[in-house]
Amino acid sequence: MDSNVPRHIAIIMDGNGRWANARGKPRRSGHRAGVKSVRASVETAAQRGVEFLTLFAFSSENWSRPDEEVSSLMSLFVEALRREVDELHRNNVKLKFVGALDELSPALKKKIAQSEEKTAGNTGLHLTVAVAYGGRWDIVQATRAIAGRVAASALRIDDIDDAEFASELALSGLPDPDLLIRTGGERRISNFLLWNLAYSELWFTDVLWPEFDATVFDEALFYYAGKQRRFGHTGDQVESI
Ligand code: IPE
Ligand code: IPE
Ligand code: MG
Repeated sequence: MDSNVPRHIAIIMDGNGRWANARGKPRRSGHRAGVKSVRASVETAAQRGVEFLTLFAFSSENWSRPDEEVSSLMSLFVEALRREVDELHRNNVKLKFVGALDELSPALKKKIAQSEEKTAGNTGLHLTVAVAYGGRWDIVQATRAIAGRVAASALRIDDIDDAEFASELALSGLPDPDLLIRTGGERRISNFLLWNLAYSELWFTDVLWPEFDATVFDEALFYYAGKQRRFGHTGDQVESI
């Protein structure tokens, strides 16, 4: 495996609403157009040898959007799962959802459970979709789990360390993202993976999510390939390894 290819890429898929506005269309048509970019990012990630792809589809804060937009997004998730899961399964993709999934409708929860079950044995790209997800929510729910284990005398306070804490986070078991991509021009994290992004390379593009394709993906990979990751060491130390 080419060591310059990130093992794990996380993407903040932003800019659907502005893409639609610019065309005089309702915001929901931007979300709809974004589905093909999801397909393109999954295909390209698999082709380039990326092992883990994590997509931010709906944040804890996105519940505050107008009811009509929230409900059209939720229907779109159900529909996209119905249409795409067989193809993902054929391509050996293992699908997993993370976030406050109990907040979702019964219909969506059911589709999620079915698609996770269907693809559970797959050994190709590990695709994680963050829905009703927030980095703060994740840290709070992990803290509750850790506190519960301490209260039950199953864990000693002194044994809480980075690895123990991370094992209770939504992305437990996955390596941290090597590269974060955000489309749509904003340079912020918007409450995505606050813990896991500690040492990720960050790449931002003005391209709006519905226009994201293999060419843009490769630009991000090119940027990543040129980076020296030091994790606190000096450049000389890293070069001598
Ligand atoms: C990202 O696109 C999709 C979601 C947050 C669900 P936006 O809907 O945020 O699009 P903009 O940022 O308003 O253009
Ligand atoms: C981040 O986009 C969330 C997702 C892409 C799912 P937002 O559009 O919600 O972020 P802000 O509000 O511009 O920071
Ligand atoms: Mg946005």
